[in-house]
Parts: sequence; structure tokens; C-alpha cells
Amino acid sequence: MTLPIQEHKYAVKTVIVPAAGMGTRFLPATKTVPKELLPVVDTPGIEMIAEEAASLGATRLAIITAPKKQGVMAHFDPYPELEETLSERGKEEQLAKVRRAPELIKAVAVEQERPLGLGHAVGLAEAVLDEDEDVVAVMLPDDLVLPTGAMEKMAEVRAQFGGSVLCAVEVPLEEVSNYGVFDIEECGEDHVKKVRGMVEKPDAEDAPSNFVATGRYLLDREIFDALRKIKPGKGGELQLTDAIELLIEDGHPVHILVHDGIRHDLGNPGGYIRACVDFGLKHPVYGKGLKHYITELLAESDS
Ligand code: UTP
Repeated sequence: MTLPIQEHKYAVKTVIVPAAGMGTRFLPATKTVPKELLPVVDTPGIEMIAEEAASLGATRLAIITAPKKQGVMAHFDPYPELEETLSERGKEEQLAKVRRAPELIKAVAVEQERPLGLGHAVGLAEAVLDEDEDVVAVMLPDDLVLPTGAMEKMAEVRAQFGGSVLCAVEVPLEEVSNYGVFDIEECGEDHVKKVRGMVEKPDAEDAPSNFVATGRYLLDREIFDALRKIKPGKGGELQLTDAIELLIEDGHPVHILVHDGIRHDLGNPGGYIRACVDFGLKHPVYGKGLKHYITELLAESDS
């Protein structure tokens, strides 16, 4: 039985986590290991997302999976044989780590047979929503938005302005071609802007701003109608950006919350290494040694 929507503090019951992409930027690792399971220190990115979804008060994680990426769902299943062995050997700390993911939130699988794009992946999740859900969250497992809490603020923006709310960060203009970029206008609130339009990965000279999408979306249920209407866009894929653009054209309110913090892009090796160093330096066991090692390494490379 699922709880009614009124019992969810931020009115979000389901978080959609698209995890069916090919991870081509991370080959050869992603030939057999799903990108979403690569660890930041010791915890897979998708488990961090599950934790963020649970702290938002969501109760269902709709994970979009690919036929050859079964390990992603397995991470959210109990593992009785391993638990028994750890328990027999008195390894309580490790046992808690093994049990953590399935205890965080109920994960349900939605299969995407072929990687037809993020828009296609999100559209498939409509099948698992309850009738009382008029909003869904989407969290991309290769984006870490820190400190966590951006989704809670986005829910407050939706309560004020209605419609859909997305999370944005400012990047240098020369980097905009890697992202979905917002065309915006002020709306009288610090950190909140009204979206006039959205362009997927434009050249710097064509970019309407340097505010770009991060992997956090709070989308009105109308998004599913828009997703049914879009045609393949950039890269031949069905783009979530194009469906959002369609919502805006139809007069649906869309705002961004400008995130004032760190964003790690785990989807490419450069961003992933930075995240590992950041989390590694803050780690209670490994932080001190890592800092010492990096300091030595930097001194050597300078000399
Ligand atoms: P990305 O574009 O970052 O992931 O999509 P990708 O396609 O796996 O990566 P590259 O570009 O080939 O290196 C963002 C998220 O959307 C999911 C991905 O798994 C990732 O978490 N995704 C993407 C899907 O679930 N299905 C798709 O068809 C495409």
C-alpha cells in the first residue's frame, strides 16, 4: 500500500531516477559496470540519490533500468547470504552498509529497452505513478548537488508559483555547450527566476544565459503529455529539455532555483575524480592521509 500524497511533507511521492544510459563517456569501465554503481569513496552515486530522495520524504524510487544493467536494481535488494556471513563474523558495521540501500526507500524498476534519451526514460515512469500524484521529481544519479536540500527549496518555489521547478547553476560561458541552458527573466525573488525557454547544449555565442540545468527537476504531471508530443532532438534522442520547452510554450509556469553550492558531475571521469577527491578529503578515515598525499604530490610536481 502506498501513502496518500497529503502524507508526503513536500508533496512528492515518487522520485524518478533515470539509469538506463550507455555511459559512453566512462568506457571502458561502463562496458559491464553501470555508471550509477561507480563509488564515490565507497558509496555508489545511486545510493546517495536514494538517500536524498528519502530525506525529501519521497517513498518510491522509480529507477529506469536497461536490460543489461540489472546490477542497479540488485543494489536495492536484500542480500541474505552476504548478510548472514557478515553477521556470523561479527562485522556489524559492514552489515549495516549492506542493508542500507534497501532500507532507505522502496525502489521499483521501469525497463527502458533501448537508450532513446532522457525524455523517453522519464516518460516511461508514468506507468508506476498513483492517480493522486500531480507532481514528480527527477534526480539524475550522475549529478551530486551539495549541500543536499535543493529539492526541498524547489518544492517551496512550486508552492509559491505553481507549475514546474528546475535546479540551475551558473557556469562560465565557455562551458554552456555541455548543458541544457535557460532563457530567464527576473521574478522578484533572490535565487528564483522565471524560465522563458530552454536550449539543449547550445554553442556559447547562441546561449541565452550561463544558467544551466543540474540533474534535479520537480515536474508537474503535465510533463507526460508533453513527452508524448516531442520528436527526437539533439543527438537523435528524445530530450526532456524539449518537453519542458513545450510546457513553457503552452503557458505552463516554469521557474529555476539557482543553487548556491557545489555540483559534481559524476558522468564523466574529470567530474568523477573531483567528487572522489572532495569526498575523500572530508572522509573521517581517509581524509587526513589523502590531504597529506595530495600536498606531497603537488609539492613534487611544482619542483
Ligand atoms: P547522460 O547523457 O548523462 O548519460 O544521461 P549517458 O547517456 O549514460 O551518458 P553518455 O553521454 O553516454 O556518457 C543522464 C541520465 O539519464 C540516463 C542516464 O543513465 C543518466 O543517469 N539515461 C540517459 C537514461 O536512463 N536513458 C537514456 O536513454 C539516456
